[in-house]
Amino acid sequence: MFQGKNIIITGGSSGIGRGLALRLAEEGANLALVARDPEKLSRTREEILSHSSYSGSRVEIFSCDITEAEKVGQVMNNIAGEIGSPDYLFNSAGILIGDYFENLPRDNFQEMMNTNFFGTLHFIKAVLPHFKKKGSGHIINISSISGVIGVFGYASYCASKFAVVGLTEALRAELKPQGISVHLVLPPEVNTPMLAKVNQSRPIENKMLARTMSSLSVEQVVDVILKGVAKGRYLIIPGGRARIMSRLSQIFPSRARWVVDYTVRKNYRGPKE
Ligand SMILES: NC(=O)c1ccc[n+]([C@@H]2O[C@H](COP(=O)([O-])OP(=O)(O)OC[C@H]3O[C@@H](n4cnc5c(N)ncnc54)[C@H](OP(=O)(O)O)[C@@H]3O)[C@@H](O)[C@H]2O)c1
Repeated sequence: MFQGKNIIITGGSSGIGRGLALRLAEEGANLALVARDPEKLSRTREEILSHSSYSGSRVEIFSCDITEAEKVGQVMNNIAGEIGSPDYLFNSAGILIGDYFENLPRDNFQEMMNTNFFGTLHFIKAVLPHFKKKGSGHIINISSISGVIGVFGYASYCASKFAVVGLTEALRAELKPQGISVHLVLPPEVNTPMLAKVNQSRPIENKMLARTMSSLSVEQVVDVILKGVAKGRYLIIPGGRARIMSRLSQIFPSRARWVVDYTVRKNYRGPKE
């Protein structure tokens, strides 16, 4: 399915994006990995090339801040020049800060929207002319279970990830007649550097809520994402508990809120005055 395909992965130097890169390289895809830190990108590239199951595909790296629309446009041209016209875009780059709403400055909301929402949007805008030209392509947006359920302590993250869900829903319908498939991924917690970092700052209520859904390994999540894309699934939710919570929030939203409220009530500390 992915052999010989040209695949862009934003956030390809770490966590889920890096996991996707390792697996897709094994399957013989040509990769363009995008992130800001060039050293992390180089390390990931070296790791892929030295892996025993490396298939000989191309792995190119592009340092780019996805919040800068103009830079994203330039990088897309470079990518097309280096690996050829893209077939898949995995939007995995993202950031997360967890804290009580009162402790999150306005700037944090701006930063979260700029990266998680507008970064995703900029890459879709840039890849679209390539997909339209050949009448095919796949866009895989990695939102979060926090994109469909309001999570205590994640006000700015939830806002940005709900925005990604709205964009993805609209694009699914709009791009389908043009032969372009859009996929929405809603992972629960995944053991990545992002999770390790947020563990240091997030409120206790958030930690307790997270325990109602078990966290997954990068390999598990990558497996579910790639199988879902290969089967043409629009909605891809790794993890049984996350699937149940997502369904519950759609069919019985008041029950889902009850689970959240019950867990928070039992563990409530609140922000320091
Ligand atoms: N881990 C979880 O529990 C979890 C759960 C649900 C959803 N997700 C989502 O899954 C995606 C991947 O998360 P992860 O856990 O793999 O995170 P991660 O390990 O922290 O990796 C994030 C990646 O995004 C890149 N990035 C961040 N800001 C960027 C920017 N402005 N421009 C370009 N690249 C940028 C980072 O590289 P640089 O810092 O070098 O730029 C890094 O490669 C995110 O969208 C996240 O919200 C994660």
